[in-house]
Amino acid sequence: MQEPRLYTWRNGWFRWSVLGVSGMTVAALLVGLIWLPSLQSDFTAKGVWDSICRAAGVPSEWIAQGKWPSASKGTTQVVLTSDMARAGAGDAIGRGATIAVQQCSMCHGAQGMSDANAPNLAGQYPEVVIKQLHDYKRGDRASAIMQTLAQRLSDKDITDIAAYYDSLPKARAAIVQAGEMDAPALVRVGDPLRNIVPCVSCHGGIDHKIGAPWLEGMPKEYLLKEMKAFASGARRNDSFAQMRNVVRPLTSQELDSVAEFYARREPAAGSR
Ligand code: HEC
Ligand code: HEC
Repeated sequence: MQEPRLYTWRNGWFRWSVLGVSGMTVAALLVGLIWLPSLQSDFTAKGVWDSICRAAGVPSEWIAQGKWPSASKGTTQVVLTSDMARAGAGDAIGRGATIAVQQCSMCHGAQGMSDANAPNLAGQYPEVVIKQLHDYKRGDRASAIMQTLAQRLSDKDITDIAAYYDSLPKARAAIVQAGEMDAPALVRVGDPLRNIVPCVSCHGGIDHKIGAPWLEGMPKEYLLKEMKAFASGARRNDSFAQMRNVVRPLTSQELDSVAEFYARREPAAGSR
């Protein structure tokens, strides 16, 4: 006896199950991609792809602006290590000095002390110089001039330059060593009620966090510009948003007073 063939149009069971599945698929597409989205007021039918994204839960404003959040642009990719913070050897310092005198001193000063509003580099922690130059090189910190210059530096150039600047005397002593008790409260103790950590707990004084720059004696204009850039999010290369979180709640008066304080080149009279 021959068995009846299963998968043939003449088999009624087969015919109806194919028609049934096709029908359900069409109905599901109509409901999911046209009817349900059309009930949402912000729906704009720009195509099947948008509809599928909406159905998968993508917020409509991403599609509308045509931009997807990018994970890393403008945030740092440098991982700070204790190696970077180590003082450089004599030959590294010598090589760094040669590059610095030729390419950097017209803005950062002959001895790393800027007379213009560029940051001082004298006595800056080596890991800070290394990290910032890599951030400029990758475009994670914006500055037309520094991005162009950093692009031409090799990794070795960068560590040698950092060793050279580390070997130069700093603009002035740390505020706690100078015993300046007239420092603004934000600098000394922060503001616990607003969850603001004191500057001295990262920037030196009480403690130094790896990667936090030496600030004492920096030009006031520069300090203010950087803090405002962190506050607005224009500068986002601080690891773990450490600086953005500190400066966002500060008023412009507070920013001005901490910048004024750190910019002093001499400790206030009678504060020793
Ligand atoms: C034409 C002027 C100019 C020259 C030349 C220049 N710089 Fe700069 N540099 C600046 C300015 C301005 C800034 C601050 C830019 C900003 O706002 O990010 C800066 C920032 C930096 C910083 C970040 C400092 C910090 O505290 O965050 C480093 C490091 C640096 N420069 C290193 C160098 C090195 C190394 C060279 C030489 C290869 C160099 N610069 C040459 C103007 C200059
Ligand atoms: C939690 C640690 C932390 C605290 C608290 C903190 N900072 Fe910072 N700050 C950093 C780090 C880290 C950087 C370097 C960010 C980077 O890698 O670009 C930085 C960068 C800066 C810069 C940019 C300097 C430069 O040369 O690029 C300024 C200005 C600054 N801080 C000021 C302050 C002031 C003023 C306070 C107190 C009101 C403060 N910071 C509190 C960690 C801190």
